[in-house]
Amino acid sequence: MDKFLVEGVGPLTGDVRISGAKNAVLPILAATLLGSSESTIGNVPHLNDVTTTMSLLGRMGCGITVGDNMTVAVDPTLINDYTAAYELVRTMRASILVLGPLVARYGQAEVSLPGGCAIGARPVNIHIDGLRALGAEISIDGGYVRARAGRLQGARIAMDMVTVTGTENLLMAASLAKGESVLENAAREPEIVDLANYLIAMGAKIEGAGTSTIHVQGVDSLTGCHYDVVPDRIETGTFLVGAAVTRGRVKALNTVPGNLGVVLEKLREAGAEVTTGDDWIQADMHGNRPQAVSISTAPYPDFPTDMQAQFCVLNAVAEGTAKVIENVFENRFMHINELQRMGADMTVEGNSVTIRGIEKLRAAPVMATDLRASASLILAALMATGETEVRRVYHIDRGYERIEEKFHQLGAEIRRQPDK
Ligand code: EPU
Repeated sequence: MDKFLVEGVGPLTGDVRISGAKNAVLPILAATLLGSSESTIGNVPHLNDVTTTMSLLGRMGCGITVGDNMTVAVDPTLINDYTAAYELVRTMRASILVLGPLVARYGQAEVSLPGGCAIGARPVNIHIDGLRALGAEISIDGGYVRARAGRLQGARIAMDMVTVTGTENLLMAASLAKGESVLENAAREPEIVDLANYLIAMGAKIEGAGTSTIHVQGVDSLTGCHYDVVPDRIETGTFLVGAAVTRGRVKALNTVPGNLGVVLEKLREAGAEVTTGDDWIQADMHGNRPQAVSISTAPYPDFPTDMQAQFCVLNAVAEGTAKVIENVFENRFMHINELQRMGADMTVEGNSVTIRGIEKLRAAPVMATDLRASASLILAALMATGETEVRRVYHIDRGYERIEEKFHQLGAEIRRQPDK
């Protein structure tokens, strides 16, 4: 297990190239299972969650070839095992994404239940109810979801809550079902649109991805193809918040400004000059301290829960007082304890935290608890006096590609060391 030693060295300045989106590449790799031939996925980020997904597909028998230029080819035709074992699922909840494709294409699946995780209970009842509505027989036995089906039948499915991976599982399954499916109260995240675009490139008939009602006309088969993953909006947002926290200037390259609407609005409210081009975004603080900004998380297009921890850090060093409300997950404030250890003035009450900004944080040994919380601890360390030790960085490696190198390009000093 590694740790990071982070020095607070002043404003971040420069350009950073954004990688492919973790939360798009994971469903897209799962969707390769639907094809009747090989797919080649491009702009794949080098992340532990991607490696886990490749292991998952490899163990099922899929042929996996890692090529140049961040491409991964998946040949699903060799599949001979329809299981996602607990030992892999427990390291990555997104493994549940193979359930829909396996049952739709092969009529069988055994996928370990993900169980709880650091940020909350995170049940998968909506995935299971939706697949049942499409005609799958599902039992839960020994911690595994066991699904069997003949050809799935299209259905109208009204989801009780907006769920990202739930919408993705049902979208994938409905693509090969017989007849029309309508997914109501669907998630609208850009990663849903990216998955839909990949499925459409394979021959699926999907309308309305990116809105709350998605219409799918099931087709008999889908053909493998080449597809490039959308850039990561959360990685983009994390580096731009880095500019705001350190009073610097960061230009994120190879990204999609349109996917960060409300995050950019909040950065402007914090005092950043935000400029955008076709595929870049720059946040420039002109040396000024950020202003406190209140946020309230909700499904896209509202403020993303995956940017909540980073904005807590922004507010920790901002001028003024802000309230941050977490509405998506019930336990996504573990970073608050760690930030308090660095001197942040924060009071948690239920699902909200009141943050009174101070000029500078102080270095302290802190522990990464989940992916986005971990990134926020690096941001905090960049605006702290002294050297901060961030332990358990394996969380960061799950979802940020070469984060220390990218911060280094912006002038930060982060050393990775083995942790005993
Ligand atoms: N929920 C249910 N039942 C379900 C499914 C979800 O009650 O069957 C609840 C969850 O407990 C939660 C809410 O619905 O309270 C929303 O959860 P959602 O299902 O949307 O989350 P997810 O699909 O498991 C994805 C991302 C998360 C991101 C959330 C919210 C992937 C692989 N993961 O998770 O990303 O926070 O959507 O936007 O796409 C991250 O990247 O760090 C991360 C945690």
